[in-house]
Amino acid sequence: MRLSTIPRIRLATLPTPLQDAPRLTETLGGPRILIKRDDLTGLGMGGNKARKLEFLLADALAGGADTVVTAGGPQSNHCRMTAAAARRLGLHPVLVFYGDPPAETQGNLLLDGILGATLIYTGKRERASVDRTLEVVCANLREEGRIPYAIPRGGAVPLGDAGYVVCALEMETQFFERGIQPTHVFCATGSCGTQAGLLAGAVAYRAGYRVCGVTVSRPLDECRVRVRRLAQETLALVGVEADVPPEQVVVYGGYIGQGYGIPTAEGTEAIRLLAQTEGLFADPVYTGKALAGLIDRIRRGELTSEHTVVFLHTGGAPALFAHAGR
Ligand SMILES: Cc1ncc(COP(=O)(O)O)c(C=O)c1O
Repeated sequence: MRLSTIPRIRLATLPTPLQDAPRLTETLGGPRILIKRDDLTGLGMGGNKARKLEFLLADALAGGADTVVTAGGPQSNHCRMTAAAARRLGLHPVLVFYGDPPAETQGNLLLDGILGATLIYTGKRERASVDRTLEVVCANLREEGRIPYAIPRGGAVPLGDAGYVVCALEMETQFFERGIQPTHVFCATGSCGTQAGLLAGAVAYRAGYRVCGVTVSRPLDECRVRVRRLAQETLALVGVEADVPPEQVVVYGGYIGQGYGIPTAEGTEAIRLLAQTEGLFADPVYTGKALAGLIDRIRRGELTSEHTVVFLHTGGAPALFAHAGR
């Protein structure tokens, strides 16, 4: 394992707490549920991307970058956190968004504006439209004499995903200290990097739990392929020679609803349940839908009092304000 030799710049407040959720556990009447509070990573209002950015921006600094360019939707948590991380390191943030400027500046987009990020819209609704524009923006910046560092959508590259190998290690220590052996770790799966990093960590540390992703955007088959490939590449990066067996790649579908970023009734129910039992805020795009998936698996009887589940809270609460009233 050579995780400790990969350049990393500390941006997150770690370790994040691992908290019991006794009232949520009791209300659902299934497994013991604990919440891994990656919504408290601290950087720019917190969330999972802080862990990825520790490795990615160390790489940016090593290459002499003065500008960080990344992409997503106008409510992207990844973009907001990348912009905050860039500012913290004295770099200029440039964000490429699909679509046109929304009528209302709320949630993450509001925070991007406060951070003074340069915002560029592709004018096309397809999410993949940002990928090409990202390259063009970087080429233009280079022509202007700037040194851009490009981070693809979601930061889902092995170097970023290594941040979740760090999380897996952190959790092993917390499980040991608490004397618990979780059977499952649930997370929201978007660009797939978080689940891939966790899975790589679980394989590397021979963890006793299953890493279960709940897709909130991509089709199931695409997620399974991406998670496995990224986990495999992350293991290679951290110097662990191990195969990720396909049966260890667990992704659940059926919780996206009408589409990525469109709230669902089940997600909204999950957000209210978490808030009213534990005083915690999930979000309508990622964690609310992931929690809805976990609740559904419990209601189906697949997870019982025999199990102990860690729900990875990956943040995202700013998006609540962009979906007010739903
Ligand atoms: C709050 C939140 N949770 C979960 C995810 C999913 O993480 P990943 O893209 O690594 O699959 C994201 C991605 O942007 C996110 O913002």
